[in-house]
Amino acid sequence: MKDFKNKLVFITGGASGAGLGQAQVFTEAGARVIIADVNQERLDEAVKSGAAVEAIKLDVTDRAGWAAAADGIEKKYGETVDLLILTAGVNVFGPAEASSYDDYDWVVGIVFGGVVNGLVTFVPRMIKKGKGGHIASTVSWGAFGAGPTTAPYSAAKAAQLNLLESYYEALKSYNIGVTAVCPANINSHIYESQLKHIEAGHKTGYNVSEGTAALLATIHAHGMDPKVLANWLKEAIENDVFLCVPYKSGPEMVEDALSRFPLLSTADGIKKLAEKRTQPPTEQELRFNAEREGYDVGAQRQAPEPPKTDGPALDWAKIGFGKASRDADWVEAGKKAD
Ligand SMILES: NC(=O)c1ccc[n+]([C@@H]2O[C@H](COP(=O)([O-])OP(=O)(O)OC[C@H]3O[C@@H](n4cnc5c(N)ncnc54)[C@H](O)[C@@H]3O)[C@@H](O)[C@H]2O)c1
Repeated sequence: MKDFKNKLVFITGGASGAGLGQAQVFTEAGARVIIADVNQERLDEAVKSGAAVEAIKLDVTDRAGWAAAADGIEKKYGETVDLLILTAGVNVFGPAEASSYDDYDWVVGIVFGGVVNGLVTFVPRMIKKGKGGHIASTVSWGAFGAGPTTAPYSAAKAAQLNLLESYYEALKSYNIGVTAVCPANINSHIYESQLKHIEAGHKTGYNVSEGTAALLATIHAHGMDPKVLANWLKEAIENDVFLCVPYKSGPEMVEDALSRFPLLSTADGIKKLAEKRTQPPTEQELRFNAEREGYDVGAQRQAPEPPKTDGPALDWAKIGFGKASRDADWVEAGKKAD
């Protein structure tokens, strides 16, 4: 898809962060953008700012809500969407072994399940419309790695990426393109989502508090501008590129991240990986990390550096970010909140 003028675009998570940046960029490109989100206040603000022509309150886990939104669009605009962008997402972090069912159900339900629901709702309608189109989704750099404190999120993102690749292959014959964008760090409000998890009455195995959210906010404050990210995505859609890793060295980064798999396949390789982790980061790793805004330097090798912050310095150890909740009595003491 090269011309967005007058195209009908539907964006989940469109009220904030990456989704709002996408709404702004595609509106500026002449599209009629409809945003969907659970946050009514931010939906209203986005429409008021001119980022979208319409806002729909939709929880991406609500299948009846998806059908109602899609029917409503056809009724109002006389056709279904040309460009579907599945961006809504949440996260929460802590040791894998502390994870609760609620942690998995909530993260996987929104991140992966929300994308499944979007595809099942709109793909048949887009095919029947018979004009081709495009589907994009905001995945994550996290899709390329597993982490001891990111299990539900990394697993859901890896599954999301894999699913999108299946649709990329399947929809070629209908002239419907698919693009997965995989940023590392975005300047967004995603740090708020872990508190919503608790407010909803879910039981988490992780240490979640105002402090952990505030700490994550300092990291995201230095992330990529959502409009810059949306322009990377727009270019990938225009060129019909499936995988958009929005950095100069993106393709090299992917090659490097996936190079662990051959090593994990042999005992010798595992020794080499362990040896590598005792070494300081290479120049290439530091360069990649700098492009990803310092998101994950030395994640495997050293305690994370406190992020740059404009406010008062936050005490990482005291806040216990990425730790288990106090009552997870099977988790090693060092991995639990004090
Ligand atoms: N922030 C990052 O550093 C980062 C990095 C890589 C990928 N991502 C991904 O980018 C996407 C957008 O996140 P963001 O960082 O812009 O965060 P954000 O919180 O600013 O925006 C996400 C939006 O999704 C909405 N949302 C959450 N749950 C929903 C639900 N059940 N139904 C409908 N809407 C819902 C939120 O209300 C919010 O408006 C997510 O998929 C996230 O995983 C974020």
